[in-house]
Amino acid sequence: MKKKNPRDLLVSTYRKAQEILEKNSYQVTINNNQYRRSIPSWDYYRHQWFWDSCIHARALVHVHPDWAFQDIESLISGQWENGLIGHITFNPDEKNYFPGPEFWETEKFSKNSVVATGIIQPPLLAESVSYIYKYASDKEKAEQFLEKVLPAVIKYHTYLKMFRDGEDSGLISIVHPWESGADNSPCWDDVFQQITISNIPQDVIDIVHKYRKDNTVGAAQDRPKLEDYYRYIYLITLYKSWGWDYETIIKKSPFVVKDIHTNSIWCRANEALGEILQDLGRGEEAINFFDWADQTRKAIQNCWDKDAKLFVTKSVGNANKNIIKEDTFTSFMPLYAGAVDDKLLPVLFDLLTDTTTYWSAYPVPSTSLRSPKYELSRYWRGPVWPIINYLLIEGLNSYQNEGKALQIRDELLKKTCEMISEFGFHEHYDPVYGLAPTYRNTGGGMGFQSFTWSAAIFILLVEKYGLSSIESSSK
Ligand code: GLC
Repeated sequence: MKKKNPRDLLVSTYRKAQEILEKNSYQVTINNNQYRRSIPSWDYYRHQWFWDSCIHARALVHVHPDWAFQDIESLISGQWENGLIGHITFNPDEKNYFPGPEFWETEKFSKNSVVATGIIQPPLLAESVSYIYKYASDKEKAEQFLEKVLPAVIKYHTYLKMFRDGEDSGLISIVHPWESGADNSPCWDDVFQQITISNIPQDVIDIVHKYRKDNTVGAAQDRPKLEDYYRYIYLITLYKSWGWDYETIIKKSPFVVKDIHTNSIWCRANEALGEILQDLGRGEEAINFFDWADQTRKAIQNCWDKDAKLFVTKSVGNANKNIIKEDTFTSFMPLYAGAVDDKLLPVLFDLLTDTTTYWSAYPVPSTSLRSPKYELSRYWRGPVWPIINYLLIEGLNSYQNEGKALQIRDELLKKTCEMISEFGFHEHYDPVYGLAPTYRNTGGGMGFQSFTWSAAIFILLVEKYGLSSIESSSK
């Protein structure tokens, strides 16, 4: 077959990305209103995931603006009274997912008969609302959208501050690895070591054996290990037994972690919310969110570890106080929060662009190639995730006065778009292209296929940086 020229390939990839966004959604009725709700992939993830949808909705504003509004409105429709928005909003017609809605026992908190889980995901909501508001071509609808969703966004931020940073440290706590979005990152290994399998009740182990599906629907070697899964489910059973009371959860959970990645997003989310309020002439209210952003930025700066030369995550649970010094993508996330000062920038850039650590054939591996924890295909222990590349590109882009930052941004932009257009829209990718096990017929693609946020991110990068800059940075 004749190879397409680079511009044609980018254009046809954009078209295919649009098709995926259209296909990967379904219609739902909430309070007699119809919504189009996006899902990550028909392969297995047929519900609405929080941070995936925040990204899908941004891309949708360029191709189907009404669906962008509806996706966010659907996302907030199940918000709990206390402000929490679950990491999965369940599709009532889908039964083939574990742990499904009945397992979480969260129905009693649900609103509008919308059932969601009791844990969060990285708080990208405010930025997405701001993005959609800015890019929606129909300004009247954009105003109406903002009016509808803004109270929920404020309530969500208030929940995060009150329940996840009750001690006012500037850093919010996560209480489950799934909350970080980086499910089986090496960052959780130490804390998980403290939750010994022999202390996990046998019925939890049995439930996992009986109901776990992701490792049979997907390739087992891509998925988190069984021992991790026991702990994921065990934490949920603990929280259920505590009635999803977050004061108790924070006090008693064996997993309470100040994840640098989640907090970098938290920092920028507060800034975005402050800006929205300021633009609406609500300057007084905005100050509060700007303050939270500043406080988080400073707290992140204090997480630099001189010896490890990494931004580190802290485990602060009563059962386990520890500093987590794993060499993973999370250490670059402070770039997203604009928390890296001039002195540290070159240190991070050296690490990021080193071909033996993060600058692989297709950067950025989720775990350093040099880490003993690195695994080529196992989910967040090696593979490249377009969402992380996107956040890093956006982070680098905010260092407009740093030539080196912009140079790395351009390279990463090009490599990310090339990776997606070469291999298609996968869940994650082989960082050292060529070594991926040969059982796949997908080049460098891994995980579930026809994946929505890989498509969405391609659209977002093309929309922001333009085809010609992607092309020109590729030569
Ligand atoms: C996996 C990922 C998570 C993502 C979800 C849906 O659980 O680890 O980050 O949100 O899949 O795509």
